[in-house]
Amino acid sequence: MFVQGHRLATMRQWPENRIAFGGDYNPEQWPREVWADDLRLMAEAGVSFVTLGVFSWSWLEPSKGEYTFDWLDDIMDLLGEHGIAVDLATATATPPPWLTSAYPEILPVDREGHTLWPGSRQSWCPSSPLYREFALALTDRLASRYHDHPALAMWHVSNEYACHNLPCYCDTCAVAFRRWLEQRHGTLDALNDAWGTAFWSQRYTSWDDILPPRITTTFSNPTHVLDYSRFGSDTLLDFYRSEYEVIRRHSPTVPITTNFMTMSQFRLLDYHDWAPHQDVVSTDHYVVNSLEHPQAELSFHGDLTRGLAGGRPWMLMEHSTSAVNWQPVNPAKVPGGTILDSLAHVARGADTLGFFQWRQSRSGSEKFHSALVPHAGEDSDRFREVCELGAIADRLGEVLGSRVDADVAVLWDYEALWAMSGPCMPSSAIDYATAGHTIHRLLRDRGVTCDVVHPSADLSRYRVVVVPTLYLVSDEDAASIAAAAAAGAHVVVTYFSGISDANDHVRLGGYPGAFRDLLGVRVEEFFPLREQEGVALSDGGTGSQWSEDATATDAQVVTTYANGPLAGRPAVTRRDVDAGVAWYLGTLPDDASLGSLLDTVLRESGVESVVRTSPGVEVVRRRSDSGSWLFVLNHTDDACQVTASGHDLVSSTDVGPTLHLSPRTAAVVREG
Ligand code: GLA
Ligand code: ZN
Repeated sequence: MFVQGHRLATMRQWPENRIAFGGDYNPEQWPREVWADDLRLMAEAGVSFVTLGVFSWSWLEPSKGEYTFDWLDDIMDLLGEHGIAVDLATATATPPPWLTSAYPEILPVDREGHTLWPGSRQSWCPSSPLYREFALALTDRLASRYHDHPALAMWHVSNEYACHNLPCYCDTCAVAFRRWLEQRHGTLDALNDAWGTAFWSQRYTSWDDILPPRITTTFSNPTHVLDYSRFGSDTLLDFYRSEYEVIRRHSPTVPITTNFMTMSQFRLLDYHDWAPHQDVVSTDHYVVNSLEHPQAELSFHGDLTRGLAGGRPWMLMEHSTSAVNWQPVNPAKVPGGTILDSLAHVARGADTLGFFQWRQSRSGSEKFHSALVPHAGEDSDRFREVCELGAIADRLGEVLGSRVDADVAVLWDYEALWAMSGPCMPSSAIDYATAGHTIHRLLRDRGVTCDVVHPSADLSRYRVVVVPTLYLVSDEDAASIAAAAAAGAHVVVTYFSGISDANDHVRLGGYPGAFRDLLGVRVEEFFPLREQEGVALSDGGTGSQWSEDATATDAQVVTTYANGPLAGRPAVTRRDVDAGVAWYLGTLPDDASLGSLLDTVLRESGVESVVRTSPGVEVVRRRSDSGSWLFVLNHTDDACQVTASGHDLVSSTDVGPTLHLSPRTAAVVREG
């Protein structure tokens, strides 16, 4: 159903008739007596799948070449007998101690040259051929042993690639980087040109002189660093693909995936390159409670993951029932929070609800991380909520495979993110995600759903295209954005976009280089704002983050700066472009000012809310040939009302014409 396009014909479909519900299961952490209890409680909670074996290497191959599959055979059989599907991991996320003792060259090295020792997890260098050899041998054993096991539903390659071991700066990586650079640039002349090595006497005359961007006296060459980010993502993708191929040889029809981390804090892999190599896009998400708008970030993450899946449904492989253990302070979720967060993911296209993990550990680094079965045991409010969620997941089966409606695209590009995240930029107080997240959040508050897609995506289907801080952009992508405006879209470009090309060379002649003509704006100098600093705007609002000395060469000035060194200069402009409009924000207006600008954009472009709602009440519509489902999520502490009619699958009641929701509850209304 949601397997990626070209593989549809041959791939086995899973899940089949319900939202898959379950999570990571680590039975090796528990004596066998507990397994029977696990199976009983899984049935009670309505668990339909588990991910097995993510960190099991030392239990599967306790010493070199000696394999012990008996325990995995037993638990696979038991799960199969209980009707629970298995997403079987390749167990290659973390090497066993014997492997790193025998071959310490496998260990990753940080920027300062320190070895990252074993004793935690993911202690392997992404470029290590030795590590790959051992990992592929284990993958081969697992795939040949379990490929036709009746419980097997999915293969789970490694785990959260790059989470802890990228970038690695070791000598093995140095050699691999040179090979990668030769492929990308062809000649040293081309590399010198791309990296701008005329600067600071950096010209290379031999490939062997090129090193990873290790710690230096001061700023490293930014294109060197950018290429190292690309190299790291490509290296791990190649690793993933080699594991994929080994599995595929034994297991032709079972879907293969690896869990991404599309949450906005994780930025090391270019998932737009990775997604086409997944049979199903899967990802992990954890609510970061220190964010100002954590629920809006969750929604953004869902829309980005759906974008990576090409609009198809995706798997939420992991999230948490309650507290995590890795933020500075880790409060539990409020009652109802487990269900609300889960349904927020389903609203944005998840057809799987996976958690880390089934049973909360007694020992180890994650013993204070919540789970489906908490330390308190089955007699707990959280486990009762988990059981309720399992029953809801079952009732939501009819939603499976449906798509999310969106008329607005927000662009997201890991290369632009990498390039603008380095030091020695005009401002270290701006972050790639801020403008995109803010606009996405304000649209979400208005009941408008966005697809978050790469700049090279087909933009022709969107009425509004938001281009936030697209610092680095290729000529082709800039042309496609301009074409979207010419064809009738409202294109909203923000500050610090279009500045540099794919090698991070500045586009000359005035900023915002690649978008100067589209926007009819020319900027000579930047005036970035300090953290907490604001600039008054002529509409009564306040700008933050950025300001700049812009001239509207061929655009209408909508808002100007009202104080400071730029008083009277344009802050927001608009330009009619054939059938569409190009808007430019030279600063980030506050929510009220930006919101009213977005209201104008929505009105003029004809984009409507899913239903009218108030901030804190999230609404999304999923649709298929057989019907439509309105998701309403009340994140507030007050009761709310929304216009909706049909059958609510959460409460199993008919509703309409007004849906009433208590605080922190959700409805999924089959409309009509
Ligand atoms: C990641 C990992 C899991 C676990 C969780 C904790 O998602 O994949 O193994 O460590 O984080 O939040
Ligand atoms: Zn390395």
